[in-house]
Amino acid sequence: MKIIRFGIIGCGLMGREFASAAARWCHLLDMDVRPEIVAICDKNADLFGWYKKNFPSIQCYTGEHQELLARADVDAVYCAVPHNLHAEIYEDIIRAGKHLLGEKPFGIDKAANERILDAIAKHPNVFVRCSSEFPYYPAVQRIVAAARAKKFGTILEVESGFHHSSDLDPNKAINWKRMIRFNGEYGCMGDLGMHTLHVPLRLGWVPQDVRAMLVKVVKERPGKDGKMEPCETWDNAILQCRAKDTLGAGDGSSFPLTITTKRISPGDTDNWFLKVKGTRLSMEFSTKEPKTMRWMEYTPGGEQAWKSEEVGYVAPFKTITGHIFEFGFTDAILQMWAAFCVELSGGATGLAFGCVTPEETRVSHRLFTAALESQRGNTVVTLR
Ligand SMILES: NC(=O)c1ccc[n+]([C@@H]2O[C@H](COP(=O)([O-])OP(=O)(O)OC[C@H]3O[C@@H](n4cnc5c(N)ncnc54)[C@H](O)[C@@H]3O)[C@@H](O)[C@H]2O)c1
Repeated sequence: MKIIRFGIIGCGLMGREFASAAARWCHLLDMDVRPEIVAICDKNADLFGWYKKNFPSIQCYTGEHQELLARADVDAVYCAVPHNLHAEIYEDIIRAGKHLLGEKPFGIDKAANERILDAIAKHPNVFVRCSSEFPYYPAVQRIVAAARAKKFGTILEVESGFHHSSDLDPNKAINWKRMIRFNGEYGCMGDLGMHTLHVPLRLGWVPQDVRAMLVKVVKERPGKDGKMEPCETWDNAILQCRAKDTLGAGDGSSFPLTITTKRISPGDTDNWFLKVKGTRLSMEFSTKEPKTMRWMEYTPGGEQAWKSEEVGYVAPFKTITGHIFEFGFTDAILQMWAAFCVELSGGATGLAFGCVTPEETRVSHRLFTAALESQRGNTVVTLR
């Protein structure tokens, strides 16, 4: 068993999700690689207690990421810090020769993303990917397989979305995700957008232009002392794009691609969904119904009947879980980490679906930057 020794920079919500996935690696079968967490870094030392209690393998606790990067026993880093720090810390990680799974949006804006991509180009031996876990749901992999087998016919339209409702409550306290200096001008697009683009981009469905409608709903929220503070970032974004089918997963023609990211979507706690409509086949999946895939096959003159199938637990990487059981968020995180570790350890051949590549993050930044321009000018903007 090959061991990849990991450092975590940013031990908050997502740092703990990775640590927990590493702790239940035995859930995966047939793996010849596993992560071991050896060092962690966060400015908030109060977070260290949970890690100390659960991870005897951790040798270093620090508030300085350079101290973690200087360690010879760290092979790779998971970095989950606020967006304003992505460029600086990701660059430092790559320059230190450590492999990286970074969090989206992979730079607070297009300039920051380009800095990260430049660092990667200068260090070709460092393996870098961006996080996105929802495509590892079994039903999503069925949609990917259908597209790769060109089963949709002419693609009529694709809608990919990620909707939350956690900001519906106007009394919810403000946090860094509502402040431009930490979260960036993209707002909800930076936060949620890469999740919606991973599958379309991997299938070669690349946005060529965008007409954007960006919405700010809650203008201010209570701060730490109860005083109201302005919410600066976009709450909801609806991006209508013309997408080119660059890999011919359909019939090679252009089609409407709708990307929606919403933090204020009543009733949606964490609803990631994908809908593909084609002349021969249509398929839909939403994490609202995690074990259900809906699909409709059509032959000219034939019936038009949507079918609903319980897909069970058939994940890209085999696990101990029986195929009749349900798949959930933490399973998707585990699968994403399996994809990252397998690809890093040189096992990419036959990998069903790899993590987001740096080039795919570049396209996402082109789209979000064009969407801001579209919103400002109320125009259709061609992606550059
Ligand atoms: N993949 C997903 O599903 C998913 C979900 C939520 C957030 N995210 C992404 O993860 C990243 C972090 O978000 P989060 O929700 O975990 O935030 P969080 O606020 O819970 O955690 C961020 C942590 O970074 C620490 N930090 C800040 N500055 C630091 C520094 N200079 N050095 C070390 N640590 C520092 C903070 O103290 C905090 O503990 C963001 O990029 C976000 O977009 C991804």
